[in-house]
Amino acid sequence: MKTKLVTVIEEDKQREVLPEAGKILQEGGLVAFPTETVYGLGGDALNPDSSRKIYAAKGRPSDNPLIVHICCMEDLEPIVQEIPEAAKKLADRFWPGPLTMILKKTEKVPYETTGGLDTVAVRMPDNPIALGLIRAAGGYVAAPSANISGKPSPTLAKYVMEDMDGRIDMILDGGTLGIGLESTIVDLTGEMPEILRPGYITKEMLEEVLGKVETDKTILSLDSKTPPKAPGMKYRHYAPSGELTVVCGSQEKVVEHINKQLEKACLEGKRTGVICTEETKELYKADFVKSAGKREDEAKIARELYRILREFDDEKVEIMYSEAFDTAGMGQAIMNRLLKAAGHHVEYL
Ligand code: TXA
Ligand code: MG
Repeated sequence: MKTKLVTVIEEDKQREVLPEAGKILQEGGLVAFPTETVYGLGGDALNPDSSRKIYAAKGRPSDNPLIVHICCMEDLEPIVQEIPEAAKKLADRFWPGPLTMILKKTEKVPYETTGGLDTVAVRMPDNPIALGLIRAAGGYVAAPSANISGKPSPTLAKYVMEDMDGRIDMILDGGTLGIGLESTIVDLTGEMPEILRPGYITKEMLEEVLGKVETDKTILSLDSKTPPKAPGMKYRHYAPSGELTVVCGSQEKVVEHINKQLEKACLEGKRTGVICTEETKELYKADFVKSAGKREDEAKIARELYRILREFDDEKVEIMYSEAFDTAGMGQAIMNRLLKAAGHHVEYL
């Protein structure tokens, strides 16, 4: 299959290309597109064949359900059994935006899309290209992140191309994205709203609207024996090809420890890399030292993380160390992705 890559940053170009891209989706094809979080790999969410194709293109296990993307509130009703008060409030406050809600599905949504579950994940993304594409496709676009299963989610179209060239019909290049980590997932089908995947919308932000919200305990736990409630969270994820270790502790100790480990790796002839911040980037002795930004600028750290992990792959780095990023707001989301990328290799000093 020939994959068409089109840059659609300009509005004129969007007007020209979105109808064509929408038609591809309506006919059962696949189109990757930008959202405010990461690039998505879109197919018609109501067409079981499209969902099968998405799993095949990503090499993703088919018990891992897809998020259905919509572009307006009216389109929510036909795919869910009821819209609980909590969902109305959250949609009012956070949609379009980086929040996915789990609700009870209707027959309209095929089990191929929900990985066999009776619930469906729904989100309205905050990106004009995404919203235009969803509308042109007929209203319902299933879209996981547009990476080969297990790799870091793409935050640039060139990484979508790297993974998906020859596997899908079209890639819409919308340039750089605002957030850089996948949406927060909140399950509204139980007694208490529960966060299944942390993201830009934090527990505190949800609690401001809903009162008490729980968090799936397995999200940040270090033992990987208890399966998380979002099926996708159980797989090794976001992972670079080399071996990554996260080191937690005071700045001084972390720098000293990482440098010691780097020295050993260097003696073994390994290519080395470090993920750090502006404050510490001059202190490390690795082949590739990458700063994710200033320590207090968590939005930038979140936006840079996947790009850095991808770059290490491009540079064939074999041994990597990362500082920890327990920042106030998105820290939980950043650490959740980083620990998964590290396959839970973590050292406390
Ligand atoms: O920001 C995002 O959410 C991006 C962009 C493209 O919108 N999409 C994304 O999709 O991250 P994906 O497929 O990479 O992750 C979807 C996650 C998986 O962990 C999956 O298991 C979970 O959502 N999920 C989907 N439907 C679910 C359901 N009915 N119940 C529980 N978890 C569900
Ligand atoms: Mg993903």
